[in-house]
Amino acid sequence: MTVPVTPAGLGYTPADPAFIADPYPAFARLRADHPVIYDPATNQWLVARFADVLALLRDRRLGRSYVHVATHEEFGRTPPPAWQAPFEASQRLQLIDMEPPDHTRLRRLVSTAFTPRTVEGLRPRVTELVDGLVSAALERGAFDLLADLIEQLPVAVIAELLGIPPADRGQLRPWSADMTLMFELTRGEADERRAVQATVEFSDYLRTLVRDRRARPRADLLSELALVAEAGDRLSEDELIATAILLLNAGHEASVNGAANAWWTLFRHPQALAALRADPGLVPTAVEELLRFDTPAPMFERWVLEDIELHGITIPRGEELALLFASANRDPAQFANPDGLVLDRAPNPHLSFGAGIHFCLGAPLARLELGVLFRAILEQMPTLELVSEPAWKPRFVLRGLQALPVRVA
Ligand code: HEM
Repeated sequence: MTVPVTPAGLGYTPADPAFIADPYPAFARLRADHPVIYDPATNQWLVARFADVLALLRDRRLGRSYVHVATHEEFGRTPPPAWQAPFEASQRLQLIDMEPPDHTRLRRLVSTAFTPRTVEGLRPRVTELVDGLVSAALERGAFDLLADLIEQLPVAVIAELLGIPPADRGQLRPWSADMTLMFELTRGEADERRAVQATVEFSDYLRTLVRDRRARPRADLLSELALVAEAGDRLSEDELIATAILLLNAGHEASVNGAANAWWTLFRHPQALAALRADPGLVPTAVEELLRFDTPAPMFERWVLEDIELHGITIPRGEELALLFASANRDPAQFANPDGLVLDRAPNPHLSFGAGIHFCLGAPLARLELGVLFRAILEQMPTLELVSEPAWKPRFVLRGLQALPVRVA
């Protein structure tokens, strides 16, 4: 009797710390022999190859959500319990979980704040913030590159952009960390309760702020959107609050993980780090390569809204796909020397920012932040070195390090 091959048998074990630390050998096995395979442990179909992930991201027979076209029952799913309603309601109004035409309308409203040109205008302020953070870290000598430096920047930038008062910004990371527990494959009820609680607190906080901005507008994105919301027909108050939550959370989670994972990669590739220090002009292509090499958000899900066929397998409506971005980014059919860190790789069509209609709205901002930050660290901290090997958080979907202890000589 032959034992059927399972993703777990190939090493795809999202709850296992060893897999989280290095999922790439399992991805290589999936890509080679099982480009699409059903995973009974997660009830998802895994898709591992670049060409498939890219095509599916552009395929309108799939959706980030299904609630706009079907009930939970029609999709064979158990409806979430009533106590999760605040989370569900907020999620449903976030543009990342919408499909056209609502997605198009909401994305258009916020996109002007994130075009490459508008974002380039933020460069002086981002540089100022980075310089302040780097100076403070240098004074300490030994510090956590993640908490003391990397994490501070995207949180400050997105909070300033929206107009969150400095005194309140300390809450953003914990709220986001708790809310995003709901996306983990291995979550338990305690995680779900934390996610719901954080949604309620975050939404209440933003409702007060939005109403204040509507009464007393300032020069920030929240005021601009609050005025659009007041006009009523294009943006409701609940949509505005959900949009602000999305921007604040998406505006730092992946950037923080991406930057910290990138430095961990550099510390493990001392020759590449030395080359980058010798020629900081490599930073723009290096940032792209580091985002490819260790993809900050390794997996995004899609629902099958109409039957699809993939490698001769029919996947019916109602099923869920796990698109393995991190595997796609190491696909030898797309990238020469995929497991090598090639700092001047160009072109570099990695999928770390996604593709299709949900392509990352914040990609220009993330690129600016990481570019300015990396250059400052390289130039102002030439002796930066790792103190001890970092540990990973027990999370796969929002995969990131717990800390990155470093020192400057
Ligand atoms: C290195 C940093 C970042 C990475 C790797 C990243 C990655 C991604 C990916 C892969 C998606 C698409 C998800 C999918 O297709 O299911 C996405 C969507 C999104 N990202 Fe980012 N992101 C980053 C930074 C940012 C920043 C700084 C912002 C700030 C505004 C942001 C805002 C968004 C938004 C609003 C969406 C939803 C877009 C839509 O549905 O139309 N992201 N991001």
